[in-house]
Amino acid sequence: MYEIHPYFTNDGSVGLFSPEADDIYHSTYGALAEAYEKFVIPADLEKYFQNNTQIKVLDICFGIGYNTKSFLNFLLEKNIINFQNKNQKKQKKFLTLKQNNATIYTNNTVKQICNDKLYSNNTNYNDEVYGNNIIMETHEKNVHESATNNEALYSNNILAENSACKAQNNKIFIKAIDTDAKLFYFSPFFRQGLEKDKKYNNIDFNYEKINKLLKNDFSQKYKLKNDVNLFIFKNIIEKLPEIFDDIEFEENLTSKKYFAFFDHRFIALYKLLKNNQCKYGFYASLNTFLHNIYYRYISNRYKKALNALCMNDLIFEPEVNDARVSIKNDKNIYNLIFLDAFTPAKCPALWSLEFFKLLFEHLDEDGMILTYSNSAAVRNAMINAGFFVGKIYNEKINKFTGTIAVKNKSLIKYELSEYDLGLINSRAGIFYRDENLDLVNEAIIKAHENEVKTSDKISSSKFIKAYKKQKLNIDRC
Ligand SMILES: C[S@@+](CC[C@H](N)C(=O)[O-])C[C@H]1O[C@@H](n2cnc3c(N)ncnc32)[C@H](O)[C@@H]1O
Repeated sequence: MYEIHPYFTNDGSVGLFSPEADDIYHSTYGALAEAYEKFVIPADLEKYFQNNTQIKVLDICFGIGYNTKSFLNFLLEKNIINFQNKNQKKQKKFLTLKQNNATIYTNNTVKQICNDKLYSNNTNYNDEVYGNNIIMETHEKNVHESATNNEALYSNNILAENSACKAQNNKIFIKAIDTDAKLFYFSPFFRQGLEKDKKYNNIDFNYEKINKLLKNDFSQKYKLKNDVNLFIFKNIIEKLPEIFDDIEFEENLTSKKYFAFFDHRFIALYKLLKNNQCKYGFYASLNTFLHNIYYRYISNRYKKALNALCMNDLIFEPEVNDARVSIKNDKNIYNLIFLDAFTPAKCPALWSLEFFKLLFEHLDEDGMILTYSNSAAVRNAMINAGFFVGKIYNEKINKFTGTIAVKNKSLIKYELSEYDLGLINSRAGIFYRDENLDLVNEAIIKAHENEVKTSDKISSSKFIKAYKKQKLNIDRC
């Protein structure tokens, strides 16, 4: 039985724990904050878009999508993209056509679903979660203040009217890979909580880091726009329609246990589409659904809102696959690669020398790979694969928080230090190997352990001791 283990991290975004990997999917410091600070901000996208109008992004280990979402959120915030369609005239025609087709369906379905109180017995909330307020622009008090926060599901943000011209020409392609289909399915449903929501962190698994987290300070530094989740939602239901057949996913999604973690407006959309899908076929139902929502309930905004979902220049390709297999078969060259696998000790298949060689073939000359890992073995594998390697520095916390690998050395802002290089040359720098990119993690780990054991390199602890001693002597002099 598939089960998720969600909890609110320190910025209100939902983090997951994996009992199988015995690892967390996200930093307890903040799942969203981590994505912003380790992946999106270091990518220096504003500078990138001064000279480019297209970007190809590879999100390795999509999970529930914080890296992709933060990337899109950032581009929206900075008006680098918007959801306006290029050709307004053409779009109007399209709208009229859709409207006509859709008239055969009444708005009964919408009402039916909206009135369907799935969680009527839930004692956590006093408000009715499934009122009409969920799908329609909310006039009433909504349960999920943090999620709505005066921003309706189909908000003005998505319309970004004024910035249309500026951002029109940017073309964005995002390929996202993960082995776990259910995480793709869950991705748009998670809501961002407030400090008070931490009371729902009834963690029924033992993971010290997460337990400690409950005592930490809360800080909602970043906020995801509904538009981003809506975009992911639309793409996932279109490109992974198996979502509707996955009973385990649905059981989790509608379980009272996880009630606080999901944005129930999206669950309402999901149910609506699922119901319509059975009756009329998926695409017809999607159109009907849009018709009902946009035309009847938010009629004064409908044109812009439908434009929003028809953006031509933003392509999101989710792929459920082993990243090694997917990338081997991929002909794309990427400008930006997010590498967010579990730690090298848990998931060495995505940190091996051969995997980095594969990424080298798929990275643009001015592209960059960003990862949260500071591991000497990872950095050494990157260097041996041909990359220049540097560090990611987070000014806010004055710490190095990850690693960047590039082909163009001038893109490195923070070089590896003498200490980092020393570690790379110690046993800690012995990288993982996966010659044909097909070994299971356990086999890679075993071979690595043997190599470390028999290596005549200095151990990392001896190196650290010697380094500190030398440093002390220099300081004294
Ligand atoms: C640390 S989590 C990623 C978190 C994610 N970036 C997010 O924002 O939610 C690691 C992910 O790696 C995925 N994974 C593990 N091995 C993989 C492989 N060989 N290929 C693709 N994905 C893999 C897991 O399913 C898991 O979702």
